[in-house]
Amino acid sequence: MILGFIGTGKITSSIIYGIFKSKLKVKKIYVSSRNSSIAKKLAKKFGSVKVLENNQEIIDKSSVIFLGITPTVGSKILNKLHFSKNKRIISLISTFKIEQLKKITNNKNIVRATPLPPIEIKKGPIIICPPSNFAKNIFKHLGKVLEINSEKLSYKFWSTASLMAAYYEILNTSSKWLIKKGINKKFAETYVAELFLALSQDALNKSSQGFKKLVADSQTPKGLNMQVLNELKNGKFFTKFSKALENVNKRVSK
Ligand SMILES: NC(=O)c1ccc[n+]([C@@H]2O[C@H](COP(=O)([O-])OP(=O)(O)OC[C@H]3O[C@@H](n4cnc5c(N)ncnc54)[C@H](OP(=O)(O)O)[C@@H]3O)[C@@H](O)[C@H]2O)c1
Repeated sequence: MILGFIGTGKITSSIIYGIFKSKLKVKKIYVSSRNSSIAKKLAKKFGSVKVLENNQEIIDKSSVIFLGITPTVGSKILNKLHFSKNKRIISLISTFKIEQLKKITNNKNIVRATPLPPIEIKKGPIIICPPSNFAKNIFKHLGKVLEINSEKLSYKFWSTASLMAAYYEILNTSSKWLIKKGINKKFAETYVAELFLALSQDALNKSSQGFKKLVADSQTPKGLNMQVLNELKNGKFFTKFSKALENVNKRVSK
């Protein structure tokens, strides 16, 4: 399989790192020269990555083309490119709808995918819409593929995917607090990362029980976990949390 990437930014780079850690068989990967420093770094690290200046050449030489560009760039460049009927396209562009993409590219083999940066370590959910074998056969090597029929519902995951920075801030706040109390930085950060990793793995293993049960099971009456939960609830932490999800949803559903 020959893959082409139009746009060599953050998410393209993460996908390519993931691919080279995976068992996916790839003959060649063509990436665009923008961003040039990321493209050069990838080509230096991986022998089968080649940088091409011309986006059309990337399309012509590849069987599957990833669109790793922003919507603004997409609007400027996609209608000038030609995608022959046999090309398969995976769009990573946040706000371009499938019908819109089909029109601009004049190609029907289009899938929207929403991977996240941990794809770099072959972890994390990858939303695919609509369900598609060619996209699944690539992404199944790089994380947990979740296929969804409804494009409208697929936007809902943009809200939850936007929790990344806030999640890391919880880790940051926890370890900063430990450091302030006299714990060595490395020790504190290892502790916090291991704690949240264990909680997430446990939640995944027990997801059939429902998260509400996990919340209940991790508190003893009048215990320390209950104290923190109640303090945060009283401070409307979770109300604000849900509101933030809702506000992202409003923004991406426009
Ligand atoms: N980051 C994520 O976690 C994530 C996850 C899922 C989906 N997405 C979506 O994926 C898309 C890319 O996101 P990103 O975070 O990777 O953005 P990014 O880091 O800004 O990457 C976009 C890349 O497009 C390049 N570019 C600009 N003009 C171009 C052109 N004419 N031809 C080819 N490439 C061009 C830019 O190069 P220059 O720097 O030289 O301008 C840049 O390297 C967005 O639509 C985003 O919503 C992102």
